[in-house]
Amino acid sequence: MTKAIEADPTSARADGRRGASVRVDGVDIRFGSFHAVRDISLDIAAGEFLCLLGPSGCGKSTLLSALAGFVRPYQGSLTVDGSPVTGPDPDLGMVFQSSEALFDWLTVGQNVAFGPRMRGRSRAEQSALADEYLGLVGLRHCAGRFPGQLSGGMRQRVQIARVLANQPRVVLMDEPFGALDAQTRQVMQEEMTRIRQATGCTVVFVTHDIDEAILLADRVAVMTAGPAASIKAVYPVDLPGPRDASAPEAAELRRALRQDIGEEVRKALRDQGLDPELGTDLGAEVGTGLGTKLGADLGTEEDR
Ligand SMILES: Nc1ncnc2c1ncn2[C@@H]1O[C@H](COP(=O)(O)OP(=O)(O)OP(=O)(O)O)[C@@H](O)[C@H]1O
Ligand SMILES: [Mg+2]
Repeated sequence: MTKAIEADPTSARADGRRGASVRVDGVDIRFGSFHAVRDISLDIAAGEFLCLLGPSGCGKSTLLSALAGFVRPYQGSLTVDGSPVTGPDPDLGMVFQSSEALFDWLTVGQNVAFGPRMRGRSRAEQSALADEYLGLVGLRHCAGRFPGQLSGGMRQRVQIARVLANQPRVVLMDEPFGALDAQTRQVMQEEMTRIRQATGCTVVFVTHDIDEAILLADRVAVMTAGPAASIKAVYPVDLPGPRDASAPEAAELRRALRQDIGEEVRKALRDQGLDPELGTDLGAEVGTGLGTKLGADLGTEEDR
């Protein structure tokens, strides 16, 4: 499985482009009177892999949606290689947590060719791009099948191929492996590193999983609990590859991330009028997503 991708930077980026730099500058996002995120600033280098961690409901998806041009900030600016994000753009590819985003009535190959088709690429180009990016995620042999005939992990790989076929400069991923079983998730994490090397894209990757962030990221940004969530801390991940989140060299970073998230989950619980002691274990177990998930469900209820 891990041999499925033949990393070939020249063919993957035949146009010579690489990832774009992303600047988030003083961004505030509001939904009516609800203040979701406040004064967020992040400079993401071209080709960097940034993971966003934070308690559920804090605003990670909201920030990603703003980067994708789906949500307009109330204040502040978002720029990609210096150009403002004004709306959805094929240069900014979004991979959602659920592979329901795939078109069930199109074959896998047609799904991946969809973006190039919409942008008026010739039939030959569409099929070459579909072939290239299905090859990159190891699913060339599934081109003629329908999404409903694939496993969850395979559908997620199709979704990634479909986004990459637009040859985006920035890939935004919202808990893309959150619904997968632990083993498939591990395979996908390995593939992610290779896809990233093959394409040179800048990646902003939301996850609940501290170990996943340590495995994949160049830097990890931790968000505070909402409302009006901001960036609590940004950590560089200076570990040699191939990475092992349980390795002794990762212990200090892991501890710091668990502490930060634990504090924010407990804060979220307190804000909901719940016993913050509940969060003691939740913070420690945040790698499973349990604590943050609970935080989110409560937060959402409160917001209604
Ligand atoms: N369209 C919207 N209208 C009103 N409120 C919204 C909207 N979208 C998000 N919110 C609120 O903004 C806050 C942040 O939501 P968001 O989905 O970004 O959180 P999240 O960090 O991605 O959570 P999770 O980890 O559970 O996915 C939540 O309180 C949510 O209820
Ligand atoms: Mg979310």
